[in-house]
Amino acid sequence: MSITTVATQPYSDQKPGTSGLRKKVPTFQQPNYLENFIQSIFDSLEGHQGATLVVGGDGRYYNRQAIQVILKMAAANDVGRVLVGQGGILSTPAVSCLIRKYQAFGGIVLSASHNPGGPNEDFGVKYNVSNGGPAPEGVTKAIFERSQAIDSYRILEAEDVNLDQLGAFQLGNLRVEVIDSVTDYAALMEFLFDFDQIQQFLTSGKVRICIDSLHAVTGPYAKAIFERRLNAPAGTVRNGTPLEDFGGGHPDPNLVYAHDLVETMFGDDAPDFGAASDGDGDRNMILGRHFFVTPSDSLAILVANATRVPGYRTGLAGVARSMPTSQAVDRVAEKLGIDCYETPTGWKFFGNLLDAGRATLCGEESFGTGSNHVREKDGLWAILFWLNIMAVRQQSVAEIVADHWATYGRNIYSRHDYEGIDTDRAEALIRGLQDQLGGLKGQTLRGYEVAYADDFSYTDPVDGSVSTHQGIRIGFTDGSRIVFRLSGTGTQGATLRLYLERYEADPSRHQQETQAALADLIQIADQVARIQELTGRDQPTVIT
Ligand code: G6P
Ligand code: ZN
Repeated sequence: MSITTVATQPYSDQKPGTSGLRKKVPTFQQPNYLENFIQSIFDSLEGHQGATLVVGGDGRYYNRQAIQVILKMAAANDVGRVLVGQGGILSTPAVSCLIRKYQAFGGIVLSASHNPGGPNEDFGVKYNVSNGGPAPEGVTKAIFERSQAIDSYRILEAEDVNLDQLGAFQLGNLRVEVIDSVTDYAALMEFLFDFDQIQQFLTSGKVRICIDSLHAVTGPYAKAIFERRLNAPAGTVRNGTPLEDFGGGHPDPNLVYAHDLVETMFGDDAPDFGAASDGDGDRNMILGRHFFVTPSDSLAILVANATRVPGYRTGLAGVARSMPTSQAVDRVAEKLGIDCYETPTGWKFFGNLLDAGRATLCGEESFGTGSNHVREKDGLWAILFWLNIMAVRQQSVAEIVADHWATYGRNIYSRHDYEGIDTDRAEALIRGLQDQLGGLKGQTLRGYEVAYADDFSYTDPVDGSVSTHQGIRIGFTDGSRIVFRLSGTGTQGATLRLYLERYEADPSRHQQETQAALADLIQIADQVARIQELTGRDQPTVIT
């Protein structure tokens, strides 16, 4: 086996986005495209020589091929040891868990999260640092800059390795350990939650649950945890085998893309609890029988009930939510007397708060919830958290939510997405809003008085870094809000996200239908932003 240095030329489009470098598979398959990016990662890191890296992905098309390249390049770039998940499978939270547990130098996650997979669909490469979280902007910037100057990469000439066989072997000077994808992650879950109590609950005959892995990475994790460890009946986990194209589906756990699960949970003879995770396992959707829990409410409820589960028995240092996430959790934090941070969209903004011990639980409206146990959001963690609370309280999802609303009031909430719209038009829409910000305060729109209107900016309380232009907020005097922002994760055109929130204190009005309750705010949003006119759409692509 020998190391070769291969001459190459930069690709201009290797700038990592919100969650690493995400492109269509054919883009990654261009000559040296993946190699350039991986070499740029190694070239930008200091201290990886002799160190341990964790490598794995969500099983999508090109996962295995990419891992072979990464292992050979790690061997040629003096990495000491790589822990790789069996079959190349590791969920995003599992990578984070492994980096922390084995004090690895970092990790490479192969995933495009909730985007579809397949030969003409999406692939992605993300680098995580030693705290287990996504690389901060300084690191991704250095990787991009290096990718623009790269003229060669190093690779070990070797046979492909067998990723399916557990065990350790040498690849040149690199020690490769193919590890079970689930064991360490499952152990962490067992440490945080009362598995005995959940098991009793699930085998009591009183509840039926349904976990949908959408043919993506959480299948093996969910089967091991729910069916084997917690003794839920076989078949509890559906779509539990990771497929390279996710069965042709869109592995995003929301009301639109997880339609089979939604049909089951809203059908006759629906189970008591249903949940789904996304492609790489960091998102979650929670459903009760004929009941959808918004991610914003889910966060608030986990925070309110945190001391009922072992991992958070001693209380929370603080909580954090992304700006567009509803203010339901703020009310809980206030009652608990803990800090509540409002950050820009993107899990990376929670990293400093978690590392500094200022926040214990975090969440986003985009179906992400997590805590300081890892540095990624964590879908199965949220599902187990819910089941643990249900087991302790012996209550259904709907009962727990109704009780929460009765105590704190309801932040009625919805998100409307306009996907694949023309980028210029989307930017014009945001500019139009920016131009109006100065004049909105004090105006009354359909009976709602504007209390503030701004373009959100965030100063990180730990390192003082400032992030500007993070979304347009229009807040009203009764606590209602309308938020507009453009998605940072799409790969085609632009996606406009409109977030709507109204506070309702009166329990007799808590069971209102969400869209009807938000109708006035929806009208105001269209009036102010001229959504229909500028996007050419008369309704959103997705409503969650
Ligand atoms: C990814 C990030 C999340 C973020 C979401 C927002 O999933 O990991 O932290 O909330 O993207 O996506 P958007 O498309 O709204 O920019
Ligand atoms: Zn994801």
